[in-house]
Formats: sequence, C-alpha cells, structure tokens
Amino acid sequence: MANLTDSTVWQQLAAHQQELATRTMTAMFAEDATRFDRFSLQACGLFLDYSKNRLDERGLSLLLELARRTGLEAGRDAMFAGEEINCTEKRAVLHTALRNVSGNPVRVNGHDVMPEVRDVLARMGVFCNAVRSGEWRGHTGKAIRSVVNIGIGGSDLGPVMVTRALQAYQSPELSSYFISNIDGAHSKDILATLDPETTLFVVASKTFTTQETLTNARTARRWLLAALKDQSAVASHFVAVSSKPELAAEFGIDPQNVFGFWDWVGGRYSLWSAVGLPIALAVGMDNFTALLQGAHDMDEHFRTAPLEENMPVLMALLGIWYRNFFGANSYAILPYSQRLDRLPAFLQQLDMESNGKSVQRDGRPCDYATGPIIWGEPGTNGQHAFYQLLHQSQELIPCDFLVAARADDLDPEHHNILLANVIAQSEALMTGKSDEQLRAELQSAGIEGAEQERLFAHKSFPGNRPSNTLVYASLTPGVLGSLIALYEHKVFCQGHIWNINSFDQWGVELGKQLASLILPELAPGAPVGCHDGSTQGLLALVKSLSK
Ligand code: F6P
Repeated sequence: MANLTDSTVWQQLAAHQQELATRTMTAMFAEDATRFDRFSLQACGLFLDYSKNRLDERGLSLLLELARRTGLEAGRDAMFAGEEINCTEKRAVLHTALRNVSGNPVRVNGHDVMPEVRDVLARMGVFCNAVRSGEWRGHTGKAIRSVVNIGIGGSDLGPVMVTRALQAYQSPELSSYFISNIDGAHSKDILATLDPETTLFVVASKTFTTQETLTNARTARRWLLAALKDQSAVASHFVAVSSKPELAAEFGIDPQNVFGFWDWVGGRYSLWSAVGLPIALAVGMDNFTALLQGAHDMDEHFRTAPLEENMPVLMALLGIWYRNFFGANSYAILPYSQRLDRLPAFLQQLDMESNGKSVQRDGRPCDYATGPIIWGEPGTNGQHAFYQLLHQSQELIPCDFLVAARADDLDPEHHNILLANVIAQSEALMTGKSDEQLRAELQSAGIEGAEQERLFAHKSFPGNRPSNTLVYASLTPGVLGSLIALYEHKVFCQGHIWNINSFDQWGVELGKQLASLILPELAPGAPVGCHDGSTQGLLALVKSLSK
C-alpha cells in the first residue's frame, strides 16, 4: 500500500484544513439552519451531535473518501469474519463473537466458536445465580456478601468501569471491590473492610502470569487462610477467569471454578467474556445479557450502516481530522455522569494501548501522527479543574461530552443543573465570547479606559473549539454496551486508516522485563547490575532510604 500521506485525498484534506482554518463554527451555523440535523445521528439508543466541529460537507466527504480509499469496509468485514488481523500475534480479533446474540456461527479457522461462548455464558449464569441467591456458601456456611475482582489492565478496567456505571442495578446484597495495583495499599485498604467468611475473590488474568494479579491473589489467599485456617476454604472463596485455565488450576483454584476465554479476545476487549463475571455478579446475568445485546446492536450498526451514517466511523474520522490535520495531541472524554467516572481510564487503555503505535502493519514507520493522548474526568468536577485550559490555552483539544437526558433514580434538581452545565460547556467552547460582548460586560461592570484594555485580552474567549455530544435517555445496561462498542469500533477504524496493528501491545513489555531484573537487586546486600547512571543512582537511593 502506498504511503497514506502521499495519497491525493490526504493532500486534499490538508488543503481543505487550510481553507477551514479561519472559518468559525458559529459562521457555519449561521449559514446553515439545518446544520444540527445534518451533522447528527442516532443509533442504538445513542444520539451523536457532531455539528460543533470544524468541518463542512466537503471536509466530511473527503474524510469518508479517506476511509474508503484505505479499504475500511473490507477491514471491518475481515475482523467480523475472524480473519487473523492481529498480524504480529497471528490472532483473530473477535470480541464481537462474545456478544453475538444473533445465533449465527462465527468461525475461527473454520471452527464455530459460538457453542463455547454460549457454554461459558451459561456457566456464568448458573454461578451468578448461585452466589446472588445465597445458595453458594462460603467455607463456614455463610452467604457471599462481597465480591473482590483481582486483575489489572483489561482484567480490571472494563469490569470496574461497568460495575460503577451500573450502580443503579447493583444487588443490595452484594458489594463489589476491585484490587489491581501492586501497591500493597490497594489490597490492604480493601481487605481491611471485608469479612473473610463472606468474601468471594475473582482472580482475572488472561495470561495468568501477570505479576500484580498473582501477587495480589496470593496476598488475598493468605488473608483468607489466616482467618479460616483451612486450606480447603480456597475452593469456596476463589474463582478464576483466564484463557489459561491450567495455570489458574496450578494456583490452587478448583478447575470447576475456572471460567475460560480465548486468545482471540484481547485483554482490553475482554469485559464481554467471563472477565465480565464481577459485572454479572453485581447486576445479575439478565443485565449482563442486556449489556451484551447493546454491544451487539452497535456491532450490527457498525457492520451494516453506510459509512456516512455510521457512528463509530464518523467519530473515528473526526478524531483523524483533528489529530492529523489540526495537530491535536490529545482528546478529552468528559462524561457528565459520576457513575462513568472510570470511563476515561477505560478508554485510555482501549485507545492508547491499541493505537499508541508508530509503525505500520508491514513495519514501515508512520510518517503521520497516530493515537492521541486520551484523558478526562467526569463533569462538573473537571470544570473546576482543567476546563480553563480547554477554553483559553493554545491547545486544540477535541472533547466528547456524554450525558443522560433522564435523572432516573437521581435527584432531578441535581440532574437539571448537570444538564445545563454540559450543554453550556459545548456552547461556550464553540461560541466563545465576542469582543463586543466582552466590552459591553466590562463596561456595565464599570471597568473602563486603561483598566478595560488591560483586562480585555485576559477575559477574551476566542471559541471555535470543537466537541461531540453523546446523549442517551438513561444509562441502562443496553445503552452502556452500545457506548463501549462505539468506542471500540472508533478505535478500530482509526487503527485501520493509520495502517497499524491495534491489537498488540509490545510497548508494555520492556518495563516488565526490566522490573523483573531490578526486583532481586533491591534485596539488602544484593549487587546492582549494569544500568545507566540515573537508574544506578535511584536504586542506591531507595536501598539506602529503605534500611
Ligand atoms: O501489561 C498490559 C497487559 O498485557 C494488558 O494488555 C492486559 O489487559 C493487562 O496487561 C492484564 O493482563 P492479564 O489479563 O493477562 O493479566
């Protein structure tokens, strides 16, 4: 494939960006009363308003041409068909099979994986019902009251994000906890609040070799056995989720209590597999099934909608527009939902671990920018922290605002204030404040003459800052499933267009290797190996301070 940046469409996009650079979105709205209708769409319970973007019809059609030129539709179909699109690990990428509720087969190397997928889901259902009904008993005969997921990365972020998001559906009988960090404070502080007799641990690790997870699991097992004083207690208080069930069994978990998944499920795409067990325990299997259904609905939308009406495709193209043609380095995720507080962290892994790459699929370097830095916090908290930079810095930071229209179980007064704020923020970012308006404001506050001139530049809001707004009626399991799948497919589309492999993560390996070399060097008296001067110095410092 020829280089992306040499293509005509890429150059046309660059030229068009120059034309649009001085046009404001407010002018585009003034020229077109139908802009909101033409630059918005609805799918799977999600409404996307992308009218507040620095884009016109021509820009959009060029971006769609870019997608077509890079064979996005064929790439998408290859993923759904189970082709080996993870070219460095030689694996299919089939998290979509995990939520394939259609009854249609999905084949990997000619083998239909759906019977195994359904079998694990059925086992999860039986197990969840047993725990939630109190039929499953701890070692001393008490029902389970606390579920602790032990995992990290994809074996933590999806489950914790979804469980928190679906707090309204949480069983009052069960509390959910998540231990991920190797920092001993994480396990210590959580375990201190729990009763070993009524606690169930779910050890989640695709590889079952991850240092943090295995260390935390051993710590939890020691804590349990110190209280229950019987090795056989492990069987009724530990279950595991892994694509390497034999390693989970080696750890001492009863093979009957190990839920499997497959190497064609990437860690950051695994919440739909048995890695979602803590979600199902928290909200029940019916709600977990609704989550899968919502994701499947988005899969179908992505698979079948024409590119110009395809929500993940449009969001991907907008991201590419700002990343590659406006030089935007970062992208803000701003859920106006406290219950979505872990969504930015989840999307950090999804996007940055997938598209934080600088070589193309064939190993050639990318001479164009790829994945942006993803960051964010729930609103309205972020407004009182970093929004200053969004409004007045030199950085162009595209934002996604997310909000539920309905309050549901929440106080309507709070919710109206939340809604007013999210709508106001995208308006303020786009419209800014005109010079005339600012002068009038200063004037009416009695600020005139030299003082007015002095303050003018500081208080000026140029605006013209882009955002998408995603609105849904309420954050149901189905809507959440669609929302997560939307971002998964957005990331897929971007990786495809950038011609990178979005499904490996070699960049996390070197640090892990070095940590395993450094660990023994930390022992008192142990010799320190050959490192650079800074690393030698830091090792010597921590060893002397920890004496
Ligand atoms: O270190 C990165 C990573 O491999 C992620 O891709 C993955 O989600 C996480 O570690 C946890 O891996 P595992 O589920 O195998 O413990």
